[in-house]
Amino acid sequence: MSDTSGVPMSWPGQPASAGQAADAQWNDVRHWMRPGTLQLQSLPPLSLYIHLPWCLKKCPYCDFNSHEWTATAAPGEALPEAAYLDALRADLAASLPLIWGRTVHSVFIGGGTPSLFSPAAIDRLIGDVRAMLRLEADAEITLEANPGTFEKDRFRAFRDAGVTRLSIGVQSFNDVHLKALGRVHDREQAMAAVAEAAQAFNTFNLDIMYALPGQTLADCEADIRTALSFAPPHISIYHLTLEPNTYFAKYPPALPEEDEAWDMLDRITELTREAGMQRYEVSAYAREGHQCWHNTNYWQFGDYLGIGAGAHSKLSFAHRVARQVRVREPRLYMERAINGNAVVSADEVPRKALPFEFMLNAMRLKEGFTLLQFMERTGLPLSSIAPALAQAEQKGLIARDATRVWPTERGFDFLSDLQELFLAD
Ligand SMILES: C[S@@+](CC[C@H](N)C(=O)[O-])C[C@H]1O[C@@H](n2cnc3c(N)ncnc32)[C@H](O)[C@@H]1O
Ligand code: SF4
Repeated sequence: MSDTSGVPMSWPGQPASAGQAADAQWNDVRHWMRPGTLQLQSLPPLSLYIHLPWCLKKCPYCDFNSHEWTATAAPGEALPEAAYLDALRADLAASLPLIWGRTVHSVFIGGGTPSLFSPAAIDRLIGDVRAMLRLEADAEITLEANPGTFEKDRFRAFRDAGVTRLSIGVQSFNDVHLKALGRVHDREQAMAAVAEAAQAFNTFNLDIMYALPGQTLADCEADIRTALSFAPPHISIYHLTLEPNTYFAKYPPALPEEDEAWDMLDRITELTREAGMQRYEVSAYAREGHQCWHNTNYWQFGDYLGIGAGAHSKLSFAHRVARQVRVREPRLYMERAINGNAVVSADEVPRKALPFEFMLNAMRLKEGFTLLQFMERTGLPLSSIAPALAQAEQKGLIARDATRVWPTERGFDFLSDLQELFLAD
């Protein structure tokens, strides 16, 4: 671990072995609470992210920490649900000192393919979380579910286990494109999953991707119209990107030209608007009252504890903002987490990097951010971003009033140019 303040991390009573020592440091609140140059007047809202890392099959475009269970399992071996839940519980227990006394406002069970876990396992997981943390009574609890990984009534059982919001990885309703994406489901299964989610949940999300191999504007429009025919409360729509270290990066498929992709995005924006949905974030569209609380907290530079294989955390203290990463490989994670030793790296966000990190998130939101939020969540004075804000305004990338700053339409279109203005020299 690097300590960006340059102060060696040592204090009385350090444990003996190197592994234990590292973990004790990373979960030792005294280390993170020591004096520093930032002044956070209050701590932001806190969310919990739980990573369930297994999938039926690795998709060729995916760079998430997801693993084919059958690739490392003995023939016929079932998912190690109980052992993984034990590891998550131990991981959470070891992390509690860092969030002592704080209320958790939302939980996101992501993956991987969390819907591979049985409803009974999800019930135990949510029960463990409620027993160990102060979870707000009406907290949003999202579970990611994939079509083709459930039988009838499974979604209802997830709801009965305490899940309040389902996020379904549809990607496309077109069989040709689903095949090109290497998905295990087809159009019919996607439609069945959405219909079942609409019956079981008051609020749910569909993940859709566009600019797919061989996709035309008309294909994209057909996908969006099909999605909208279910009157979904929320849709996340992502431009397919070729991520390094994926099969698609090595063997790139033929993708639509950039101009075509822009036309698709324009059409998506029009169709969703006509359907009464608001594009409240670059990739997120919602009906009134159905914005995702959990993701909005990320975008507002709120705090999150991430448990599970490869999960990331961002936690604030009175004088610093810290980030942690847990071990990625699921079996190694289980071995280490059960001993309360899952964290592999932890760093303090350097003071100079905070404006960019804040903007990387906040500028994704249509509403932008309040000046008060910036000061509260970074612990920095407004003077630290005044020159970059003036430049962004002059380029027509933001607008502002006395209390708030938000990206203009141009700012949304040239988001990385806007965010880069806040990079430290
Ligand atoms: C955590 S991922 C996976 C959730 C779930 N396992 C699934 O595949 O549906 C969440 C979403 O990110 C999007 N995504 C993943 N890889 C992507 C890529 N390379 N380009 C664009 N979107 C991507 C997909 O829409 C996916 O549903
Ligand atoms: S199912 Fe989702 S998480 Fe799993 S490999 Fe495919 S895109 Fe990645």
